[in-house]
Amino acid sequence: MGGPREAAARAQELRATLEDANYRYYVLDAPAISDAEYDRLFRELQALETEHPRLATPDSPTARVGAAPLEAFGSVRHRVPMLSLNNAFADEEVEAFDRRTREALGAEAVEYACEPKFDGLAVSLVYAQGRLAVGATRGDGHEGEDVSANLRTVRSIPLRLRAQRAPRRLEVRGEVILFRRDFERLNEHQRSRGEKVFVNPRNAAAGSLRQLDPAVTAGRPLRFFAYGIGEAEGFALPATQSELLDLLGELGLPVCAERRTTRGAPGLLAYYRALEARRPALPYEIDGVVYKVNRLAEQERLGFVARAPRFALAHKFAAEEATTELVAIDVQVGRTGAITPVARLKPVFVGGVTVTNATLHNEDELHRKDIRVGDTVVVRRAGDVIPEVVRAVPGSRKAGAPAFRLPAACPVCGSAVVRLPDESVARCSGGLYCPAQRKQALLHFASRRALDVEGLGEKLVDQLVDAALVQTPADLYALDVGRLAALERMGERSARNLAAALERSKRTTLQRFVYALGIRNVGEATARDLARHFGALDALIDADESALQEVPDVGPTVAMSIRRFFAEQHNRDVIAALRRRGVSWEEGAPRRAAPAGPLAGKTFVLTGTLPTLSRADATAMITGLGGKVAGAVSKKTDYVVAGADAGSKLARAEALGIALLDEDGLRKLLKG
Ligand code: IVH
Repeated sequence: MGGPREAAARAQELRATLEDANYRYYVLDAPAISDAEYDRLFRELQALETEHPRLATPDSPTARVGAAPLEAFGSVRHRVPMLSLNNAFADEEVEAFDRRTREALGAEAVEYACEPKFDGLAVSLVYAQGRLAVGATRGDGHEGEDVSANLRTVRSIPLRLRAQRAPRRLEVRGEVILFRRDFERLNEHQRSRGEKVFVNPRNAAAGSLRQLDPAVTAGRPLRFFAYGIGEAEGFALPATQSELLDLLGELGLPVCAERRTTRGAPGLLAYYRALEARRPALPYEIDGVVYKVNRLAEQERLGFVARAPRFALAHKFAAEEATTELVAIDVQVGRTGAITPVARLKPVFVGGVTVTNATLHNEDELHRKDIRVGDTVVVRRAGDVIPEVVRAVPGSRKAGAPAFRLPAACPVCGSAVVRLPDESVARCSGGLYCPAQRKQALLHFASRRALDVEGLGEKLVDQLVDAALVQTPADLYALDVGRLAALERMGERSARNLAAALERSKRTTLQRFVYALGIRNVGEATARDLARHFGALDALIDADESALQEVPDVGPTVAMSIRRFFAEQHNRDVIAALRRRGVSWEEGAPRRAAPAGPLAGKTFVLTGTLPTLSRADATAMITGLGGKVAGAVSKKTDYVVAGADAGSKLARAEALGIALLDEDGLRKLLKG
């Protein structure tokens, strides 16, 4: 292989050839040599460097794969913050942007640089004396993670700038992405080895860049496109953004070929439409376009507002839609008991991922859109948001398909499903018992203003529930120290501390206990009022809705919520178990506030829509004068206030011979 001199010369030649091959491939998009040839030259260089270790340099093409795994990423402070962009969706917003820009610059027409908005991850590359020194993620915009070793493995990022006299310091900013084809290949590879499959190219790029082992990143075909600069020293700035990117290209950085300059809002919108049409044909994913005032001097004059530049705008593409068949409607129970209908779909590829489930939001939405099982439906997905069913395709309905009904019982625990007036969401009423709500219920129960079990936080609740040691709050008081101590990260001492805290929490007040139950719409203040009013828990448990509404600030909705909670046997069982296990408080005599006001003792029922008063306003006016508003008409009802479209309540009032009022009548009565 010749002497050291020949070896040094050959190594230099090989490096230049390999760098040039990279440049032609990634920047000029015009490959000069085949992959096989590249690999052959690369291996020759590797062999030379192994034989003559002194020839190895940190920016040799062979240095892209070498670095050792890290324990953790260091952090990098961005001397010039990495900001975000203001978003626009509608044409009018783009027109308004152009108008504001023209006014601020006092210009007739403004020239813009238009670029794709890459759907990847923002990174910063600092070149010191032309050599890649630091590569970092955006982080919070001020401080990011040092992912230099990973970024060095990205072949389209030059380790050295192509310049006779490189700038002293130049920070290049851009996006790390995965091309679609590379993403698919990566997933095939992952799948064949039984490893994690990524949902879309952006997630795959993010996951790859945040690997602590650069060898893993090196195996992922990441790409880079430059779109701007950060700090710069010893670098002569050109006059415009478009020339800046041309210059970055000459320095060896990949800049994308879809860039254009244009003038005025019509030019911006034409670019947007053209790129949207080309979007499916692009080898990478974009989620919109970015407009930037082209002249850098004008950018400087426009400056920044909050966290985004005034000189730029991201114009996002509309969420992608696709049609598929709705196979079934299931319901899901959330952490707070919210019941959400979920569409099970025939798998469909939309917005970069295969979608099989989509939210239908709630019962009203579902009925408004009239979506039924078997329908062909339009599914929409934008960015990382949950996919949703937009509408059914007219004419796709299968004969006899029934309208969807929410189940009357919670699919998780069988407790009654309740939808309170004024709420769009139905909920499982078995808050103390339902497995779906378990963790939330326990956390609330143990919280400081409830039973105040010191040390019982989120992590521990997760552990206790996951280990099946605790199902309901009552189980907390049956925990044994030995089994607690056996939990991971627990130990004898913490176990004893928790046991002591639980013991202390047993002695509580009725107010805290009522609050700890986590009844919807019963916060601390209502719990206090209820405790004072009823004095004893059993009196509260047995109270009907009209008795509940005698409590100050308890209206029909809160009364119904309380009633339904205690009506659920599952909850009553848990309460009984809590008492059996020693949770106790002092009970007192009921202290009912003497009803005051001219309407004291009078019960009203509201039905239908009043011409000007909302239900809440009418209720406030009545209760303000000492009256009560009940949810249902009974013999005890004194007045029924009926508006337009009053239904069964009006009929029942008429049948019982109860006094009827319209809005005028109500106002007169209230005036006395
Ligand atoms: S310029 C001060 N240009 O969009 C403006 N950003 O919301 C800095 N992005 O996370 C950004 N393509 O990574 C710019 N052609 C482009 C872009 C682009 C994608 C991302 C960027 C950032 C986000 C800004």
